[in-house]
Amino acid sequence: MHYEAFDAAVARVRERNLRLAERGTPPSVYILTFGCQQNEADSERLLGMAHAMGYHDAADPKDASLILFNTCAIREHAEKRTLSIIGSFKKQKEENPSLLLGVCGCMSAEEHRTDELRRRYPYVDFTLTPATIGLLPEAIDARQSGGRRRFYPDAPDTVLEELPVARTGAHRASVSIMYGCNNFCTYCIVPYVRGRERSRPSADVIKEVRALVASGVKDITLLGQNVNSYRSDMDFPTLLKALDEIEGDYLLRFMTSHPKDASDALVEVLRKAKHIEPHFHLPLQSGSDAVLSRMNRRYGMARYESIVAALREANPDIAITSDVIVGFPGETDEDYEATLAALHRIRFDSVYAFIYSPRRGTPAAEMAEQVPPAVQSARMTRLLDEQAEISREKNKPLVGKTLRVLVDGPSKSDAAVYSGRTDAGKLVHFDAAPDAVGNFVFIEIERAEAFALYGKIKK
Ligand code: SAH
Ligand code: SF4
Ligand code: F3S
Repeated sequence: MHYEAFDAAVARVRERNLRLAERGTPPSVYILTFGCQQNEADSERLLGMAHAMGYHDAADPKDASLILFNTCAIREHAEKRTLSIIGSFKKQKEENPSLLLGVCGCMSAEEHRTDELRRRYPYVDFTLTPATIGLLPEAIDARQSGGRRRFYPDAPDTVLEELPVARTGAHRASVSIMYGCNNFCTYCIVPYVRGRERSRPSADVIKEVRALVASGVKDITLLGQNVNSYRSDMDFPTLLKALDEIEGDYLLRFMTSHPKDASDALVEVLRKAKHIEPHFHLPLQSGSDAVLSRMNRRYGMARYESIVAALREANPDIAITSDVIVGFPGETDEDYEATLAALHRIRFDSVYAFIYSPRRGTPAAEMAEQVPPAVQSARMTRLLDEQAEISREKNKPLVGKTLRVLVDGPSKSDAAVYSGRTDAGKLVHFDAAPDAVGNFVFIEIERAEAFALYGKIKK
């Protein structure tokens, strides 16, 4: 029985931690989160478990007695950077042997990385995969009581459903509706590190969203690698419709949609929605049918563009954003030009572009004709330039309009300037509004750039 072991481990760690607190050294936790929103959601579970075990939050990792690295494996660069950050804690561990270091997330689900962490990072106490984060109390308990280092590459999935959650944002929240991915796009590591698709029961999702709305959360993002293939006792459009019917002042977002599963029923739900954001993130990856086929995306440009047309017919103001990979193995100049042409035809509001990064164990990493790095970066630069121009042109007509914006707080670069997001998810900077943080305000847009809008609060 998993849960008996879980509860018992939580109780033992808590007991030890309380004794430490009584002696004037209260234990604390710090979590470094990398990667996507799924990892951010997992970190809220890791933090929830840590709180249940009596850890309080450390303001700085230097002061922490437990440090967790929630890692991402999507690109080589992300892994290298994370490994060097993990390495930078070696000294702290030498100075304080009771410090516990745990590596969680997608990197620790790669067998060769677990091996590497085991052999070359002796100061790492344990690893947990995304499917086994529920073993955190047992891993800590084992180490605190003098047990060996623990690595869980093959542990059976633990139930994620009832883990404690420490929500870190007051007015925005995310809700996982499914875990894993079945699509095996040939470049992608996610199905290997996150496992097969598992959808949560709709009743649990609805209950969670209802509770968030009741507690005043204004912006709720439904998460899954391919939300369109959600299936429990209902499919995704039916779930979305049920959630949209919850009474309250809130906005529903969802990501990510896979084009092969975007249905007419989904477009119909969007057409009539009261709370769903007027934005759709629909990863294109490439504008060339030949490349899409080698990526195993299972749609072509004709199908992709018919979805875009249906979305714009349902709501002419809808913002559409996308992901693109440049330099996929075998991408010719013609394939690349086809991607640029698609960007000019479709005119996305914004695009996240990535240079293809070979991931060990995926089919694309074995393909012949890997594109040379210099060609990849030249293609990337030109694509970003052309898309920035399109984004700027898409934003220009918003000047003079008044848009609803959810206020996040002071902007990163200037405390006198506040930032927030429009209903369609666009970043807006405006005059300071400390009292409005976490609430919707109306902003008159005065200037539009490629990546942000600027305006003032409409009184
Ligand atoms: N499940 C989502 C996104 C997953 S990862 C989807 O299907 O779209 C987010 C983005 O990272 C992907 O859309 C893709 O553009 C990019 N990506 C994934 N693997 C990559 C790789 N090996 N190299 C470069 N970019 C990659
Ligand atoms: Fe990766 Fe494709 Fe699954 Fe997205 S749909 S997570 S790109 S395999
Ligand atoms: Fe997300 Fe990175 Fe894992 S993008 S699913 S944290 S590999």
